[in-house]
Amino acid sequence: MNHFLEEISSEVRGAFAVLGYRSELGKVTVSNRLDLCELQCNGAMAAAREYQKPPLTIAAEVAERLQGNSVFAAVEVVAPGFLNLDVSARYVRDYVIRMGAATKLGVKSVKPQKVIVDYGGANVAKPLHVGHLRSAIIGESIRRIISYAGHDTVGDIHLGDWGLQMGLIIHELKQRHPQWVYFDPLYPQSQDKAGSGEEPQEALFTLADLAEIYPLASEKSKNDSDYREQAQAATHELQSGHRGYRAIWQQIMEVSLTDLRRVYDGLDVSFDLWKGESDVQEYIADMIAGLINDGFAKESDGALIIDVSTATDSKEIPPCLIRKSDGASLYMTTDLATVLDRVKEINPDAMVYITDKRQNMHFEQLFRCIRKVGMVKPEMELTHLGIGTMNGNDGKPFKTRDGGVMRLEELVAEINEKMYQRIIPNQTMSEEEARETARVVGLAALKYGDLSNQAGKDYVFDIDRFTSFEGDTGPYILYTIVRIKSIMAKCALADGEAGEERIILSYLRYLDEEEAAVRTGAKTLLLALAGFSAMVEAAYQEIAPHRVAAYTYQLANAFNMFYHETKILTESVNEKRRAYLALLAITKMVLETCIDLLGFSAPERM
Ligand code: ARG
Repeated sequence: MNHFLEEISSEVRGAFAVLGYRSELGKVTVSNRLDLCELQCNGAMAAAREYQKPPLTIAAEVAERLQGNSVFAAVEVVAPGFLNLDVSARYVRDYVIRMGAATKLGVKSVKPQKVIVDYGGANVAKPLHVGHLRSAIIGESIRRIISYAGHDTVGDIHLGDWGLQMGLIIHELKQRHPQWVYFDPLYPQSQDKAGSGEEPQEALFTLADLAEIYPLASEKSKNDSDYREQAQAATHELQSGHRGYRAIWQQIMEVSLTDLRRVYDGLDVSFDLWKGESDVQEYIADMIAGLINDGFAKESDGALIIDVSTATDSKEIPPCLIRKSDGASLYMTTDLATVLDRVKEINPDAMVYITDKRQNMHFEQLFRCIRKVGMVKPEMELTHLGIGTMNGNDGKPFKTRDGGVMRLEELVAEINEKMYQRIIPNQTMSEEEARETARVVGLAALKYGDLSNQAGKDYVFDIDRFTSFEGDTGPYILYTIVRIKSIMAKCALADGEAGEERIILSYLRYLDEEEAAVRTGAKTLLLALAGFSAMVEAAYQEIAPHRVAAYTYQLANAFNMFYHETKILTESVNEKRRAYLALLAITKMVLETCIDLLGFSAPERM
């Protein structure tokens, strides 16, 4: 089925065409004066210029043709040539019935593309900060939107696991425990030592140790250039295959990944691939040799660079640095090699990267480089979504109360506690259920608070506002869904109406057309529901979860308006009550689909 506005437009286009005008002029949009009409068409204005006729005349001709068209309840011509339209209640009701029966609520099927979504991007052994939170939340939603739009997605966390932080930790451990077998100068060469029982089977350090070591080593390297150089050397040795360092690295990975998986699970963020920078090490030597051979990579002050600037650049685009003068590879190097790996293993049609917008230049360079050296097929779509910063109430990057950098887990704990405080006073829940509910609603508060903002913009993280049950918030959306669930449960109890969703939905046909006539709550709700598929397509095209959030809020509002003006449970005419029940069921279905696209779910009660 077509989008609602497309179907409506095709009626108006038909009228334009019959009258001898270009049919595209019949495009219908949502009215920007909802107090006057539901939809509007401005085509007569453009037609006037093209056909040298007064717009009012053209509009009147079109209106005349549309008289008696059952799609419209009202067609009005307004100076200087607008067509104000109200859609017929029966038509929108039937559209929603079709939508309820269609797969994926009427979202059109497409030729599936294979899309890699690169998000999360945690750095191993460094604490996860709120900065990584946005990439995870937004990326998860984007992956779900792209899948729902009909494509095959592969989500890859692309761990930062091959950089200086590893060298810093290794170097610090070496200073503290020079006697460890990994640091024995003979260890790397001596094959017979491997598996001889000298290597510790379990990691010699814990997550807490790493959390202490990394910041300390990082601080030391800032003030002590010897220390820094040694850490850099350790990084390079690790990358070149030093066996002892690889063994330590392996242990750092194990300890950190267990923790990372737990954190992402708690956020309901998941990945198909847990690959990282280290996984593409094997490609690097050949890749670089090839780039030199083909004349793309050039020496510059001992380092290796690829020029990606063009004559038409309006700003300076620095060259890609693919090998440092000390021989170590860089972020750019592993990102290039990752493209080779992805092309070989997955052969995607498109790749979407989601990171902090401070990496905008990195991706500009990366994409230019990929295309310049012909690493991907020309039709491959490459997108980078640079996300804004999460600020505190003071407008500065989010901090803890005592001014430190907020760790992700502390933030989540704070929200859950706030949610718990809001939930318990009016509930008969057990402590356990209240805690679990607080977790589910807290996650919605966090995710919705983020996703309701345009990804590229900075926003203020306001815990009080985000956890409120009123306004444009996650808890308000969940509260609406819970309300629907509870009415549906009561209805079902009242007359054994439970039944299959499909049957319930078919009751929508009982919705009285008079009642759903012009601008009642029921009609507004139907119109909001009918906009679902176009919204999904727009959210996909623009890679914009905030579109889903805005729609969800609009739909929740429309539902609550209907709810307040309608006596549902006490409605004595059976068919009427059933029709309402159907309206509840489809609203719930659409709202639940929306929050699933945003990456959270609703509790049974709250
Ligand atoms: N680890 C990086 C960071 O913390 C993000 C990785 C993003 N993905 C990529 N393919 N570069 O900044």
